[in-house]
Amino acid sequence: MTVALCPGSFDPVTNGHVDVIERVARLFDEVIAAVVINPSKAGTFEVSEREDMLHTALQHVPHVKIESFTGLLVDYAASRGVSVIVKGLRAVSDFDYELQMAQMNQKLTSIDTLFLATSPAYSFLSSSLVRDVARFGGDVSALVPPNVVERLREK
Ligand code: PNS
Repeated sequence: MTVALCPGSFDPVTNGHVDVIERVARLFDEVIAAVVINPSKAGTFEVSEREDMLHTALQHVPHVKIESFTGLLVDYAASRGVSVIVKGLRAVSDFDYELQMAQMNQKLTSIDTLFLATSPAYSFLSSSLVRDVARFGGDVSALVPPNVVERLREK
């Protein structure tokens, strides 16, 4: 049983996240999409809202669990029997930081990180840009799942 972990802030989940998690779900027996709770950084959405949005956005994908955690990623991964961490890489700009985290996590517990190339259709997409566009009334319907469009409108 190979369990892959896709961690992130998911504030909110975007079509880019959904694309990566759909593809990861085809490669592994089970995928955990985990919202990382960062006590020192107030998000736009509550963690429970982020989990709800992920649930709805990923309900068509089999073998996916939605969870949240606080603390070290490697400790959470060990507690859930995770075999591998999987991250989407959008562009070279993501690479430095992602490589650093992958190497730190490997040093801490020998867990490996695999990188999946983001679909070019989503390589420009980030939760922070989506929030910004939505805040000023821009159309984000092609960038996030329909339930997220609604939640952003409500916010
Ligand atoms: O979606 P993000 O915010 O780019 O995801 C980054 C995240 C949450 C995956 C990363 O910050 C993380 O793993 N945080 C958990 C705390 C931790 O283990 N920090 C050390 C990482 S080497």
